[in-house]
Amino acid sequence: MDKKKYSHFETNAIRTQVERSGQKEHSVPIFATSSFVFNNSEEARAMFAQELEGNIYSRYSNPNNDEFIKKLCLLEETEDGISTATGMAAIFHALIAFLRSGDHIISSRSLFGSTHQILTKILPRWGISHTYVDIDNNDAWQKAVMPQTKILLAETPSNPGLDLCDLEFLGKLALKNNLLFIVDNCFATPYLQNPVKFGAQLICHSATKFIDGQGRTLGGAILGSKDIITEVRSLTRQTGPSLSPFNSWILSKSLETLPVRMDKHCENAMILAEHLAKSEMVKTVKYPYLKSHPQYKLAKKQMSQGGGLVSFELDGGIKRCRKFIDSTKMLSITSNLGDTRTTITHPSTTTHSKLTQEEREAVGITDGLIRISVGLEHIDDIISDINQAIEKSAK
Ligand SMILES: Cc1ncc(COP(=O)(O)O)c(C=O)c1O
Repeated sequence: MDKKKYSHFETNAIRTQVERSGQKEHSVPIFATSSFVFNNSEEARAMFAQELEGNIYSRYSNPNNDEFIKKLCLLEETEDGISTATGMAAIFHALIAFLRSGDHIISSRSLFGSTHQILTKILPRWGISHTYVDIDNNDAWQKAVMPQTKILLAETPSNPGLDLCDLEFLGKLALKNNLLFIVDNCFATPYLQNPVKFGAQLICHSATKFIDGQGRTLGGAILGSKDIITEVRSLTRQTGPSLSPFNSWILSKSLETLPVRMDKHCENAMILAEHLAKSEMVKTVKYPYLKSHPQYKLAKKQMSQGGGLVSFELDGGIKRCRKFIDSTKMLSITSNLGDTRTTITHPSTTTHSKLTQEEREAVGITDGLIRISVGLEHIDDIISDINQAIEKSAK
């Protein structure tokens, strides 16, 4: 990958582009091709032998994928990366590239439901174990290190609890114990937080969320140093979690507007969080940049804004939450997030329903918890829809 071209995030997000073809197009074309041609058989041999750089087959590389990933590397300040078809493909491959039978992972208990399933149901099939720790308990992270530990894994802010891990502490712990520190940076995006600056070595993204930002496509990315990514690439070239060129074209275009979208998501989310915090009908509100968030100081240190998600609890459990959700008129009832449209989710019966009640409660996913991904509609319309639905659900 090239060195950073411009000194500002916004400019790199817009001006990183595949070289123009002879057609002089302004917008990058979609390279909808499975394979690429060689000038002769010797060139084919040399490319397969990796003596020459170039595109061979879209499972390995494609100009659209390269543009998307090169941009993300600039934005996350990593040397190299791999685009993947989904965020889960990114997480799964980032883990298995470095794990062998008998290895051990330490992970924060607060995790997206499918990542939890990988740790608890899939990796144990190959004798890979894990220890869950409370995300904010630095002592517990330290005490969980064993001779067979290979990876520290965290999602910060977490889905849906919006809890944070101390990136700098975990970066140092990983360095001291020769562990790989993997961060799922999906909620913050590179615009709000660069985990590598605090010592994380591998960053995973679900590009499906704020990176696409319009709920159109799935996508993911694995980002890190050249050495680490080379190791992951030796796996993904064979297993093929490749992103389609069409989807990477969408995602690369989406990155052009990430900063302006995130500024507005954060502004709207902050206003909504402050509004809910004042409401007597709301039990608790969680938002990293609310002063009442238990890790407010840490959020200020490692995130430049609070993000686009707000979680809150209503009294009355599942019945009340269902009534509240069903009473909204504008908000979209869907499990996705990071969209221009405000979306509303009841994690305990949807995204985190595969966890046991005890597992959910350990990470604050009560039956009364609601997750809002605050969109880009006018904030007054978002608040008024939520207000009327809360009032209706209380009757
Ligand atoms: C924090 C987090 N990581 C990973 C994923 C998985 O991403 P994808 O749906 O793109 O596989 C999600 C999906 O909601 C998520 O919220």
